[in-house]
Amino acid sequence: MLDAATVERETREYVLVPWSTQSQVRHIPVTHARGCWFYDANGKAYLDFSAQLINVNIGYQHPKVVAAIKEQAERLCYIGPTFDHETRSTLARMIAEVAPPGLKKTMFTTGGTEANENAIKIARMYTGRQKIISRFRSYHGGTYGSMSVGGDSRRWPWEPGVPGVVRVFDPYRYRCPFCSRAAECTLQCVSHIEEVIWYEGPDQIAAIMLEGVTGSNGVIVPPPRYWPEVRRLCDKYGILLISDEVMSGFGRTGKWFAVQHWDVAPDIMTFAKGVTSGYVPLGGVIISEKLARFLDDRPFPSGLTYAGHPLACAAGVANMQVYKEENLIERAATLGQTMGALLKGLYERHPSVGEVRGLGLFWAVELVRDRGTREPLVPWNAPSQGVLNDIRNAALDRGLYVYGRWNILIIAPPLTITEEELRLGVSILDEVLEIADRAAKA
Ligand SMILES: Cc1ncc(COP(=O)(O)O)c(C=O)c1O
Repeated sequence: MLDAATVERETREYVLVPWSTQSQVRHIPVTHARGCWFYDANGKAYLDFSAQLINVNIGYQHPKVVAAIKEQAERLCYIGPTFDHETRSTLARMIAEVAPPGLKKTMFTTGGTEANENAIKIARMYTGRQKIISRFRSYHGGTYGSMSVGGDSRRWPWEPGVPGVVRVFDPYRYRCPFCSRAAECTLQCVSHIEEVIWYEGPDQIAAIMLEGVTGSNGVIVPPPRYWPEVRRLCDKYGILLISDEVMSGFGRTGKWFAVQHWDVAPDIMTFAKGVTSGYVPLGGVIISEKLARFLDDRPFPSGLTYAGHPLACAAGVANMQVYKEENLIERAATLGQTMGALLKGLYERHPSVGEVRGLGLFWAVELVRDRGTREPLVPWNAPSQGVLNDIRNAALDRGLYVYGRWNILIIAPPLTITEEELRLGVSILDEVLEIADRAAKA
């Protein structure tokens, strides 16, 4: 094995690290991982409080999944997507069995962004319409189409991007332009969508595409009537409903898929991340029987060399077994209550915490300069993440990895985390939030 200094030097010299200013990357050479922990070359342990990029749902190096990948590798590493193979059909069936009612057929992809690209294509093909409605605080992936549909600032450098996207406001109670200061949610965010539909032309809109629960834009849990009301609008105007469950799927929120909290069946659902917990890259788009029938007798002009890769599907089947055998979906729901209570303790102790919110094991800690004005501690979309980096680095120094963007920390550990590990992680957050409190006062 190479020594850590060589890995770091060669990384600096030969690797372009995504989403980063190369000269500012903090290099941590990771050598191995287990459960909720990963380890660097010096043997230092890090508790993973965000499941990397919120995908390592079953934790690291689960022996059953590692064995399934090995076994598949011995038998068949690769076959093209027009051939049948066991792990792909089994995984497709297993996903259909736990998906919202009516969702049946899956086209597999290599990750979330390609899943969303194909969701958009299928919606446009089926309806013959072009426009897609999405939300400002959303992310749907890094390729051109998905990036254009996403609302957050990651799209800015690549604009004008793919045309035909119309964005609406989010059901973001804490900063809602309609009801953030009202005693109750007024659901005007849905009336606003209907108004946008009128102005854009109902017969021009192919789909409304929403994250089940918004992830990297701040774990925004919609009010209870939101999804059913959006479903009603879609039915009223013949618009397809797409739920992007790439981050919120596979137990993250305490249900298999987030929309199941509100008993809503989308026409199209996309997934990735938790389907294999990152062991091998995989994503997919699952469509309703109605859409599947539409594609029965006409060519589907889309695909990928690695759609339904046998190794990835073997990891997917093994992940599904682990979710079921270890009751991880239910576990996320119950442990989520403990997590919520612990994080609310942080709200009590730290004036810089404006709000904690979440569902299952998917939580946000939103940092503000002042609780009255709700001014973000780091302005959203500012060129630098400022003090948030200091907070995350201080956590890393203490052996805690936590993901965050600008003024929001996202707490989403593997669903296998123990209560003791939860408490340890929150106690480290408690220490490093002193940095946020000081910055808020400054
Ligand atoms: C909601 C959502 N959709 C899509 C994606 C893109 O997935 P991938 O990075 O696998 O392409 C992400 C990634 O973070 C996501 O959070």
